[in-house]
Amino acid sequence: MGGSHTFISFDLKYFTVGMTSLEVFDKVLIVNFGGQYAHLISRRLRELNVFTEVLPYVRLGKADVVGEILPKYKAVVLSGGPASVNELSFFKDVVMELINSGKPLLGICLGHQLMASALGGVVEPSLPEFGRTEVSIVKEDPLFNGWGAKEVVWMSHRECVTTAPKDVEVLAYSSSGCLAAFKVLGKPAYGVQFHPEVKHTVKGMTLLSNFLDLAGVRRTWIPSNYLRLVAEEVVKEVDPNSKVLAAVSGGVDSTVSAVLLKRFLGDRLIPVFVDHGFMREGEVAEVLESLRKVGLNPLFIDARDRFLSKLEGVSDCEERRRIIGEEFAKIFLELSLKDPSIKYFVQGTTYPDVIESGVEVGSHRIKTHHNVGGLPTWFNLKVVEPLKYLYKDEVRRLGAFLGVPEEVLRRHPFPGPGLAVRVVGPLTKEKLELVRKASKIVEEELRLAGLYDEVWQAFAVVGEDRWVGVKGDSRDYGYVVVVRVVSSDDGMTADWVRLPYEVLDRISRRVTSELSNVTMVTYSITSKPPSTIEPC
Ligand code: XMP
Repeated sequence: MGGSHTFISFDLKYFTVGMTSLEVFDKVLIVNFGGQYAHLISRRLRELNVFTEVLPYVRLGKADVVGEILPKYKAVVLSGGPASVNELSFFKDVVMELINSGKPLLGICLGHQLMASALGGVVEPSLPEFGRTEVSIVKEDPLFNGWGAKEVVWMSHRECVTTAPKDVEVLAYSSSGCLAAFKVLGKPAYGVQFHPEVKHTVKGMTLLSNFLDLAGVRRTWIPSNYLRLVAEEVVKEVDPNSKVLAAVSGGVDSTVSAVLLKRFLGDRLIPVFVDHGFMREGEVAEVLESLRKVGLNPLFIDARDRFLSKLEGVSDCEERRRIIGEEFAKIFLELSLKDPSIKYFVQGTTYPDVIESGVEVGSHRIKTHHNVGGLPTWFNLKVVEPLKYLYKDEVRRLGAFLGVPEEVLRRHPFPGPGLAVRVVGPLTKEKLELVRKASKIVEEELRLAGLYDEVWQAFAVVGEDRWVGVKGDSRDYGYVVVVRVVSSDDGMTADWVRLPYEVLDRISRRVTSELSNVTMVTYSITSKPPSTIEPC
């Protein structure tokens, strides 16, 4: 990869009294025009050790961009998005403000078109370019350091810049003659029609790295510095005479949060492991053992009966999530009543959780993840969220830095409400046992095939569907089990995994023979979007 990567850690000279690292990090703002593009850009920049924030474009429309927003950032990226430039013509003034501010600016796809259009260029429907395309670089520029005269990039557009604005230098054309890249004369502002954040753009990371160099962005977003940021926030937020409860489930997020806070809080951190009865087969013992290995000796609460009595027969998953969240909250509140010095509660909320739960202005609520915004109003412990700035891969990086064992970091994500969101229709003990056993088979077979670490999640789901079966001499009317195996980078989008037929065959044979009440196994072949990963 091109570009110079100097991994520097924080130098105290950057601090003035009262400053926190959040103010000292060089931040890049990504203006989100919808879809998942913005987060992919954000994650790629973070791979280059730069802190990013994603804001919906509407936020800029309402703010004093030059006085209020730009001073916080070292550079700005305008993302792609599903809209047409015409639909966003009201946003041209903001784009001109960004260009004229002299702040380093990179417009990608729709962002590139918005810049060109604001500067007086023509954007119109073109021959659509989707997927791998070749661009020709026609003018050398530091943005393209390390690029050859022709390179393969990833395009995804139906409109393009057909006439370049006059105040720009044309840097590249695509094979169908669209303006593929430009620089605004006299400003550190660029537009690229292709997607450098997509892996298929062969030298995309080099371009992003070049942009960061041009913008003078320091690469300080490394685990030792996230740790420092969290430490500062904990010191600021948490009263030194109080205790903090941390719900641990053995998952990556809750384990890393607790290990991290244990460092700063010592015995003031109380890890609690609640068995709600929706854990996977053998998981409770495994989790307790792995938590002890990382120095967390959690208080164990067996609440299986308590949860099941509230959830048996409940069909609606959102209702189940609400009940589970509420029961958890009650358990933690009961603990705090026994020890009044307990004033805080840790949540392993990550950056995508914050965004997917619709907390961010302009984003749409998809599912209520009970770890964000789902706490009942009467829950009066203050929430500490040490991972709220991090994507999942960064949580893993931080975990490794803190010495959390690989086997914990490699575990597949598992939803807080556990198997309760993998039973569709009324929740019954029978269906719960069925998904527990079938999921175990799915995981075992993936491990045997050496595929477990290659996929994001792999599990079984059961609903109300039935299928007639013949086992031995008798006819059965058994359950249909859906097997879902997906690959993903962050859970926000996912693709179904093309498992080898032999693996699918083994899973199907084992599920139908080991579980007498199952007569059909199906495999889910829908990605996210349009589907979600969990069934409900
Ligand atoms: P979906 O189903 O929304 O899942 O595509 C995205 C990721 O989030 C996990 N997930 C949850 N995690 N509480 C959680 O802590 C929940 O209620 C929940 N629902 C989904 C899911 O497993 C996937 O990794």
